[in-house]
Amino acid sequence: MPRTVRDFRADSETSLTMLTAYDAPTAAIADRAGIDALLVGDSVGNASLGYDSTLPVTVEEIANRTGAVSRATEEVLVIADLPFLSFGVEEAESVRNAGRMIKEAGANAVKIESSSHTVSLTERLAELGVPVMAHLGLTPQRVNELGYAQQGSSEEAAERIAELARAHERAGAFALVLEHVPEDLARKVTDELSIPTIGIGAGSGTDGQVLVVNDVVGLSERQPPFAEAFGDVRGEMEEAIGTFADRVSEGAFPAEEDSSEADVDEDAAL
Ligand code: KIV
Repeated sequence: MPRTVRDFRADSETSLTMLTAYDAPTAAIADRAGIDALLVGDSVGNASLGYDSTLPVTVEEIANRTGAVSRATEEVLVIADLPFLSFGVEEAESVRNAGRMIKEAGANAVKIESSSHTVSLTERLAELGVPVMAHLGLTPQRVNELGYAQQGSSEEAAERIAELARAHERAGAFALVLEHVPEDLARKVTDELSIPTIGIGAGSGTDGQVLVVNDVVGLSERQPPFAEAFGDVRGEMEEAIGTFADRVSEGAFPAEEDSSEADVDEDAAL
């Protein structure tokens, strides 16, 4: 069955689940776990590529990883993030970059860190059949302007976010991420919009929740205060890699049962 953004809807019983993913094995595990959407976020910059912000991430890096995530999954909706300055400079270039995620990398939709300048782009992409997830509140591509502080905390700032949310819904966005905003603002926007809202650091009033996978599995060295680790992958990896290093250096691996003699019959058959 094709995955479509139309199926991405919360009901009164269940919240939507979204997680970031940057590689095939993680994506396959998340797909089997029943996650509704995987976001190939530009958070790959901090989470996997060793950058200290998302700004250096390229279209190539996102396309490459989106390919891995879509090849490894069957059910989950795959959303590719558009990296810093890959959209919003020239419309034609923005459309080509977004289209590439669908055409070449196999994404079902793109996410765009939104503001007033992305309303018309959202409309154009929706018209062309490229579904757009908008993203408001803390938008990390604006780190040099906003830092990582909560957004929408004054009445005026909250109204600006609510108005931008309405404008992106009118422009055809199929969903909206609200990052690090006060809970009452997220709840108000969720009540006003008919498209689903996905919160991160936005309280419990949204239609769904998203977190960075490294934070969820306990792989991150540091994580934002609103994230939670539901596992200890860092601890498990430290133990496994440390044990491997010890066993090899003390000559205990490979043991006799891990080695094999040449198979003379097979060599002859070749
Ligand atoms: O890049 C990302 O991972 C994101 C989510 C945290 C929403 O934008």
